[in-house]
Amino acid sequence: MRPWRPIAYYVRPPPFDPGSPLSTPPPQIIREVEDLRRELRYHARLYYHEGRPEIGDAEYDVLYRRLQELERDHPELLTPDSPTQRVGAPPQEKFETVEHVAPLLSLDSSESPDEIVRFDTRVRKALGAGVEPVYILEPKLDGASIELVYEEGLLVRAVTRGNGAAGELVTENIRTIPTVPLRLRTDDIAAPTLLSLRGEVMMYVSDFADFNARLVASGSEPYASPRNSAAGSIRQLDSSVTASRRLDLLVYDVLHVEGVDFARDQDGVEAIRSWGFRVPERIETARSAEEIIAYHARFDADRDDLDYEIDGVVVKLDDLAARRAMGATSHHPRWAIAFKFAPRQEVTVIEKIDIQVGRTGVLTPVAWLRPVVVGGVTVSRASLHNREELARKDLREGDTVRIQRAGDVIPQVVEVVEHGEDRSAPFAMPSECPVCGTVVVEDGPRTVCPNRFGCSAQLKGRIIHFGSRAALDIEGLGEETANLLVEQKLVTGLADLFSVRPEQLVRFEGFGEKSANALVAAIASKRTPDLQRFLIALGIPEVGVTVARTLAEHFGTFEAIRTAGTEALVAIDGIGPRMSEAITGFFQDERNAAAVGALLAQGVEPQAVEVRGEALPELGTVVFTGAIPVPRVVAETAWRSVGGKTSGSVSKKTAFVVAGDAAGSKLEKAEKLGVEVLDFDQFRQRLAEHGGTIDGEG
Ligand code: IVH
Repeated sequence: MRPWRPIAYYVRPPPFDPGSPLSTPPPQIIREVEDLRRELRYHARLYYHEGRPEIGDAEYDVLYRRLQELERDHPELLTPDSPTQRVGAPPQEKFETVEHVAPLLSLDSSESPDEIVRFDTRVRKALGAGVEPVYILEPKLDGASIELVYEEGLLVRAVTRGNGAAGELVTENIRTIPTVPLRLRTDDIAAPTLLSLRGEVMMYVSDFADFNARLVASGSEPYASPRNSAAGSIRQLDSSVTASRRLDLLVYDVLHVEGVDFARDQDGVEAIRSWGFRVPERIETARSAEEIIAYHARFDADRDDLDYEIDGVVVKLDDLAARRAMGATSHHPRWAIAFKFAPRQEVTVIEKIDIQVGRTGVLTPVAWLRPVVVGGVTVSRASLHNREELARKDLREGDTVRIQRAGDVIPQVVEVVEHGEDRSAPFAMPSECPVCGTVVVEDGPRTVCPNRFGCSAQLKGRIIHFGSRAALDIEGLGEETANLLVEQKLVTGLADLFSVRPEQLVRFEGFGEKSANALVAAIASKRTPDLQRFLIALGIPEVGVTVARTLAEHFGTFEAIRTAGTEALVAIDGIGPRMSEAITGFFQDERNAAAVGALLAQGVEPQAVEVRGEALPELGTVVFTGAIPVPRVVAETAWRSVGGKTSGSVSKKTAFVVAGDAAGSKLEKAEKLGVEVLDFDQFRQRLAEHGGTIDGEG
């Protein structure tokens, strides 16, 4: 187990308040405070980072309390990065959502060595003949992903991954993690003006076991996995709760930096280390697919001996310029891949099999299992997919089965290991929908309730999907609320969502005036949805994020998509005959047409988007620097949405640089290279000339 000092950290000190100086403390006090802070940081470092303390807990406590005492007597000496200031803020009511400095992309992933060989081939092709790739190999940590932002060396923000573009502001909680520097160490590398880092908040397996045992002993529900536990711990509204959990932070990526230029990932990792962070262990380099595969095998063999969870290894191209050249798809960078481990398996008993009806009406048999921990996660249910799969595996209640879990996906039943005593009859799919009683139909291996618009299970599913993050992202419209709306008959079709009134909600448990108003307002705010999101929200078969974007960008308006014929659809890159049939079929179905018509009649108006012609005008690459009035991603997205490109570094090829206040080395470089420099207003104008606007500015 990792060393841990259960000391005064838990006690909330007086909050940091710079105030006006009451008096100037005598110089020997100032010196003592500075010395104490230096000493405490030094000992914390030995203890938490290096695991070789020079002093005991009691001695550390004496120093800590002396510093607290001096800061109490001389509040003007308090600084936000003092070791006493890890738990300071009062509990919050909710978390604010904020944009990341740069998007937190996810990784393409595979379990197959062949895929790694193909990845290597793609990289070599992109680099061109004669250039040998160098890969950085790291464990893929299974914790909670976080962005940390430092300005002039001071921790100013910590944001959860969220949807990748924006997440929850959890700074106060992250400050309580002892291995997070409140101020960067600058012994080797100076503090950049702006630094955004990406890392993983981890709870060690041994600490997790301990913590869960304590939860159970106190009558609380245990967490399912160290990852859930880490994620739950950083989403506490009271940071003193987070402080009581044993968490660590490992940092593996410089997302964005200003004032320092790195050429390779290795330089970034070195800098991360020198600034005082812990980095993942066993970072290595490789020059071939064989070396990557060998590293993966070594880690896999050691996996059960580690005190933290990993679900694979991450392979990244070291050369940062080459990364920029390779770029990213909408989901993941092309220069990296996660090489996952094979799923973990366990044996347990099927206690019961029943049926679930989803948003598309498919009846899915579900196995209720005797709970079992599979690779750190407690599993009590597994999908049995469909009638054919169930028959093929001949799974029955009472059977002992092998189950497996692969990352986040729903656990699967692999095979029967042993039949139950007095084996029950094979499970038969019902002939009627268990929710609405309609006679089911068989569609290939699937069993479907055809009552698409009358079955309450399907309506609930459609509402949940409509409000989900990838769709219209309606806050407060989750499973519970959807159930309530349907069961109380407040909503009989999606369009009804827009006519729900707060008075109707407050009658029900779980709704106060405030939450009822908030839900109605959240729904109303989606009356002019983004076209792509609206398409996703409708739940058209085959239409996910990528197809929705393709359709939106190709057709521009909802009307054009709704009336598009099959030929027009198949002509689009990325849309095959099956998809186009599914799309036209959806809009031609009378009841779908009526449901869509009802939404439009409620005043729902999906926003038109600029149609992307084949040949985009070459608008050139733009670099932003300094403090601009909107988050950088917003400005970058606006420029990219009119067909331009953006980059983090200035070169001769840069079209122009947009400089905000306090612009630094990039501005100098632009001036040196004779690259045009615009202020933000001029950028707005330039954007408008190409038909673009800044999101949120109309
Ligand atoms: S690199 C764009 N390195 O895995 C590349 N990610 O789907 C940035 N993760 O949620 C990610 N360990 O938080 C990288 N050593 C590591 C990682 C790592 C864990 C997480 C990451 C993300 C997921 C990738």
